[in-house]
Amino acid sequence: MENINWKEFGFGYTKTDYNVRCNYRDGKWGELETSSSDQVNVHIAATGLHYGQQAFEGLKAFKGPDGKVRVFRIEENAKRLQSSSHGIMMAEMPIELFEEAVIKAIKLNERWIPPYESGASLYIRPVLFGNGPQVGVNPAPEYTFAVFVMPVGPYFKEGFKPTDYVIYREYDRAAPQGTGTIKVGGNYASSLRGGSRAHEEGYSAVLFLDAKEKKYIDECGPANFFGIKGNTYVTPKSNSILPSITNKSLCQIAEDMGMTVERRKVTVEELADFTEAGACGTAAVISPIRKIVDADKNVDYVYGDEAGKTSFKLYETLRGIQYGTVEDKYNWNTIIEF
Ligand code: PLP
Ligand code: COI
Repeated sequence: MENINWKEFGFGYTKTDYNVRCNYRDGKWGELETSSSDQVNVHIAATGLHYGQQAFEGLKAFKGPDGKVRVFRIEENAKRLQSSSHGIMMAEMPIELFEEAVIKAIKLNERWIPPYESGASLYIRPVLFGNGPQVGVNPAPEYTFAVFVMPVGPYFKEGFKPTDYVIYREYDRAAPQGTGTIKVGGNYASSLRGGSRAHEEGYSAVLFLDAKEKKYIDECGPANFFGIKGNTYVTPKSNSILPSITNKSLCQIAEDMGMTVERRKVTVEELADFTEAGACGTAAVISPIRKIVDADKNVDYVYGDEAGKTSFKLYETLRGIQYGTVEDKYNWNTIIEF
């Protein structure tokens, strides 16, 4: 194992040594269990299969040049899973139990944590779903939680290189008062048609507009959107986008860099006013945007082949905090003790 080629990892599944599970039954959470199998037992009448009672999370651990392993903002992911669970009436997992499960999964797979120099990181994927029989449309009697980890490289294969995004008005990922603000699989299912068309046509992802008026920017496929205008960081406020932990961190970093941060509605036309734009998220980190093509209106918003100066500074600071080379003033990292 010690000859793993870390540079080869893109963003895809790799079987690691162990995963951690926990079941909710009879109104309470059980003990954490360890498994080396990557299969789970699902009841044939599970609501996770039939009625979309399912949510997931995504977070990362990083090995720094000091040899320490840090997980980024784990409590935020724990809280967001609770919020997703609340939204679709699943049992909520206590924050401490979520953290314990994630840390256990990292520790059990220590040899899979990429070294600092590789630029790769360990992606952590917790998932929770309704299990046990429930055929009427009601919340499930039982829930299964599992968390697996895998080493990953960049989500968009170009890494920190600008790529192109596209606007199509015929697809929505979530309804205005729907599930857009929680991390449930259904949002991703509804993004697949538009997303695959975007890939076929040479784009990294769809830049979704608000589903009601098609006037405002929502988010980019699996990531939030931000634009830079002079010394201002602008990011959409919407009731159908996922509250990104990366974006929240970048807002803080931008503010600390002396920038003005605006979280507000962003019209499509305003794309023309930005000097830089990017997609941000755990998997995407910051993916600078070269061009946004409004496919229905035949308009291109072009930002250029090089990532802008400000996006690069934000990226470097965020990565620095995650790898332990920039001061972690807000205690975002949890250091794993082996
Ligand atoms: N938006 C969507 C739809 C996502 O799937 C993700 C990824 O989790 C994000 C935004 C970014 O969120 P975060 O920064 O918390 O990973
Ligand atoms: C993440 O950034 O963790 C995501 O969830 C994005 C995607 C792979 C769904």
